[in-house]
Amino acid sequence: MARINASVYTSHVPAIGAAIDNGRTGEDYWKPLFAGYDYSRQWIAARKPDVILLVYNDHASAFDANFVPTFAIATGEEFQPADEGWGPRPVPPVKGHPRLASHIAQSVIQDDFDLTVINNLDVDHGLTVPLSLMFGQPEAWPCPVIPIAVNVVLYPPPSGSRCYALGKALRRAVESFDEDLNVQIWGTGGMSHQLQGPRAGLINAEFDNDFLDQLVTDPEALSQKPHIDYVRLAGSEGIELVMWLIARGAMNDQVEQKHRFYHVPASNTAVGHLILENH
Ligand code: DHB
Ligand code: FE
Repeated sequence: MARINASVYTSHVPAIGAAIDNGRTGEDYWKPLFAGYDYSRQWIAARKPDVILLVYNDHASAFDANFVPTFAIATGEEFQPADEGWGPRPVPPVKGHPRLASHIAQSVIQDDFDLTVINNLDVDHGLTVPLSLMFGQPEAWPCPVIPIAVNVVLYPPPSGSRCYALGKALRRAVESFDEDLNVQIWGTGGMSHQLQGPRAGLINAEFDNDFLDQLVTDPEALSQKPHIDYVRLAGSEGIELVMWLIARGAMNDQVEQKHRFYHVPASNTAVGHLILENH
């Protein structure tokens, strides 16, 4: 059977993608940020996932205000990098895993989570920047990726507890797949940031570090945090952090923390990163 063995959590700032694509990772501003992922690139090269379930949010690239699914899964063969206004990122297309994705859709929907099923999806920085941080600049991404998109852009986003429960349903889905696969689940976005209005530029390192602590040690309690706390304390875009609870919900209660990194700022955002393993 397939198993979720590990989870990765990371911010997804577009300027990080631009720094990689334009050969600027060695600059003083960027060096400390990329140094925080040195361990991660070695770790993932050794772990060689067969498939990644990549939980991310679209930023009005594939969806717009006409069509905003709360939770969606992409079941296609291949996903192109989205044009976010300055041309698509020069990264490889993302290969999907239609058989596992369709199985997950069936399992999770019949387990009372109404996922939207998408066959044709362009993937924006929310998905491609985490891949670049973890894998660098390969000719092709080393494994298939199943995009799981979450609405955190248009009010109302799903609650933390709903996200945490979806993670548990995703785990049941993976474990009922008939092929032996080493699966990872990634939760992306965050940490504290606000891109708009009078509080633009807001960062809350204390909130972020408490979130990292609690995500590892007491995710159940963390999942009860109300939206308004994210918005007030972590900024309007800090709500992206609810996606980390989906990945954490798919893991064991007790996990081994392999890596933790926190860095301020990258563009307007506090960057957080965790790697957790199941045993
Ligand atoms: C930034 C961060 C994001 O999460 C995003 O989606 C867009 C921009 C930023 O910090 O610039
Ligand atoms: Fe974002």
